[in-house]
Amino acid sequence: MWDIAEFAEAAGATVDELAAYVEESQRGTARVIRRTPPRELAEKLGLGELIRKGGMTPETYREFLRTFLDEGTRLHHPAYLAHQSAVPDFPAALADFIHGAINNPMAVYEMGAASATVEFEVLRWMLEKVGFPEGGGVLTHGGSLANLTALLAARARVAPEAWEDGVPDDLVILAPPSAHYSVSRAAAILGLGRRAMVALPTDDLGRIDVARLPSISDGELGAGRRVMCLVAGACATGTGLYDDLRGIGEWCRANGVWFHVDGAHGASALLSPEHRHLLDGIELADSVIWDAHKMLRTSALAAAVLVRREADIDAAFQQDASYLFYGDQGFDLIGRTVECTKAELGLKIFMNLAWRGEHGLGEHVATRYATAHRFWQLARQRPGFELPYEPESNIVCFRYGQADQAALRERMMADGTFHLTSTEFNGVRHLRVTVMSPNTDDDTLVALLDEIERIATPTAQS
Ligand SMILES: Cc1ncc(COP(=O)(O)O)c(C=O)c1O
Repeated sequence: MWDIAEFAEAAGATVDELAAYVEESQRGTARVIRRTPPRELAEKLGLGELIRKGGMTPETYREFLRTFLDEGTRLHHPAYLAHQSAVPDFPAALADFIHGAINNPMAVYEMGAASATVEFEVLRWMLEKVGFPEGGGVLTHGGSLANLTALLAARARVAPEAWEDGVPDDLVILAPPSAHYSVSRAAAILGLGRRAMVALPTDDLGRIDVARLPSISDGELGAGRRVMCLVAGACATGTGLYDDLRGIGEWCRANGVWFHVDGAHGASALLSPEHRHLLDGIELADSVIWDAHKMLRTSALAAAVLVRREADIDAAFQQDASYLFYGDQGFDLIGRTVECTKAELGLKIFMNLAWRGEHGLGEHVATRYATAHRFWQLARQRPGFELPYEPESNIVCFRYGQADQAALRERMMADGTFHLTSTEFNGVRHLRVTVMSPNTDDDTLVALLDEIERIATPTAQS
């Protein structure tokens, strides 16, 4: 039984500590990242003792939480410019808290009618945004599962017998080399093998070259190979650049090929009137994935798989399990997911929408994209910085001088000044900035450029 007074006290401590943590992070006065080695950190947090003996109280919990927060990575920090995890907004955090307390796991309606209904309505809204009036969907724990689910739906269309008989060996998936690794991983999980991945021709920025798409009728892919689907990026993880969805979609229509759009990162630009054009043609897709825990400011994880024809997602899975599947499944979404138990993913998305509105979230996307563009402008004015393309989203790749770029990143993380990522672009390692935090401004960008120049320039002593 919960001790309600103890719960209220601990919850109060949580709010106090989180408020102080977010406030300090937003101001940018603390280190953005710490990487204390696990053994040392376990000792500092008293993990061994707490795991084995328990005994935490509201007071010791407050101490623990303070250290725990301080030893993590501060996504709310202006200098957080790294992975594509959202800087969560507090309404979504409230949803996580509610879920933690009530645990109405999704996928089976009877386990939480209110939570399930929220998921249905959020999906309806996402389908409307994508332009799938007759569509269907489901929320999953992340984009990788969403891609796997969409590819399963594509396989069910091309090879409906695969679920029962196993996978035919003539199926291929067309994708640019820049496709997120979860796509080739899905191919391997689906039993097609990575050899089924056919790399599409691209331009020199890695975007699918529509004019050079293969001629299927001429057997250009090799005799007896059937295309299971074509995957386009909106946008590509590495570069943040969008493929030409309309051109590719028209090619897919003309060739009867399932068109999958990986909009995990970039589909949120649908909410920004200024950036909506980047997704022109998305409505031609057969399936789309869209992560809320990237640009819609929810904590991990909340992603959507959306299909143009609702029946397609129901065809993805077939299952017998007498304890769950019998008769009419009513409002259950369990037939559409890899997961059996799911968290209340819809509530996180809903709460942000309910608080900020579609407009507020669109504004968030637009300003992050604009800040990344600003970074590009500022960096290209400085000698030594190379920027291979003008950014379309909030992801920018660049190099500074001839220094080891990965070492520059390591140095900034070790100092706790900036948190960036790095990636290969055309075979060469680049630094990579992803503007996620609403607190990153021009001052942050200038400080980053100064810092890179400073640490890359050997001092007189060295
Ligand atoms: C384009 C794209 N697709 C899929 C994924 C995988 O999403 P998740 O990390 O939610 O599994 C990512 C993650 O960065 C991505 O950028």
